[in-house]
Amino acid sequence: MGRIAYVNGRYQPHGEAAVHVEDRGFQFADGVYEVWAVMGGRLSDAEGHFERLARSLRELRIPEPMSRGALTLVLREVLRRNRVRDGLLYLQVTRGAAPRDHAFPDAGTPPTLVVTAKPLDYAALEAKAQRGVAVITQPDQRWGRCDIKTVGLLPNVLAKQAAKEAGAYEAWLVDRDGLVTEGSSTNAWIVDANGRLRTRDTGANILRGVTRNTLIGLAEELQMPVEERPFTVTEAKSAREAFLTAASAFVTPVVSIDGEPIGDGAPGPVTRRLRALYVESARSQAV
Ligand code: PDD
Repeated sequence: MGRIAYVNGRYQPHGEAAVHVEDRGFQFADGVYEVWAVMGGRLSDAEGHFERLARSLRELRIPEPMSRGALTLVLREVLRRNRVRDGLLYLQVTRGAAPRDHAFPDAGTPPTLVVTAKPLDYAALEAKAQRGVAVITQPDQRWGRCDIKTVGLLPNVLAKQAAKEAGAYEAWLVDRDGLVTEGSSTNAWIVDANGRLRTRDTGANILRGVTRNTLIGLAEELQMPVEERPFTVTEAKSAREAFLTAASAFVTPVVSIDGEPIGDGAPGPVTRRLRALYVESARSQAV
């Protein structure tokens, strides 16, 4: 059975699914997206991703394509038709298709909605997390509203490609003050030299990661307070541990930054504990 994509009310063979050439997502990156991890056929951190989607749409004044209830049915149907039990579910909403003009199209132009799913081998990802991943640093060249999850990802694409060419998994983006903002598609964390968990505050120009938010709650339940406070590249390189979070990576240990080992160059105990805790909690809370 082939892959199926949902596009504007129709479930279509993935290879034939398409949006209009004048779709504003294609012409202007005028749209938003969300990504859910799927565990055992259920959506992990479902509520957080739905809430962020609603906020992204509101901030950009893009109408909701359908009610939350109807959208949930579409998401589940895409999973069912693709037989995805473990994987990722992607959703894009754009301001719709209309004659090219930078200003918004006529009110009443329906937003475009695309939903796709792909399977993931969690055992392989777990093996990767056991080894840990390398990151490099790159200048943060993005716009001033990175709290909105837009499909305008060109600086993220370029940073991720630089990481790939350097043999690394991720690029950590660095602002003009030398402070790490986040990764190109993940949030950045350290266990600092004093043993404190740190990640950038959401007052900064970063995405409010759903995984990040859930992990802060879990860490606090364990009496491991999280300082939402910026760190420099130098602090990251001299940290005891470093890791990244995302729906697509859960909690993944970072074992080197720009080729310099973090700690002893292996995943640290705090990160391993947080990963186990997050995965367990995500699986049991998935809906
Ligand atoms: N990326 N920061 C950025 C820039 C991201 O694109 C993402 C997610 C995150 C982590 O957010 P969350 O924990 O809500 O997944 C942080 C998704 C997975 C992607 O683009 O594929």
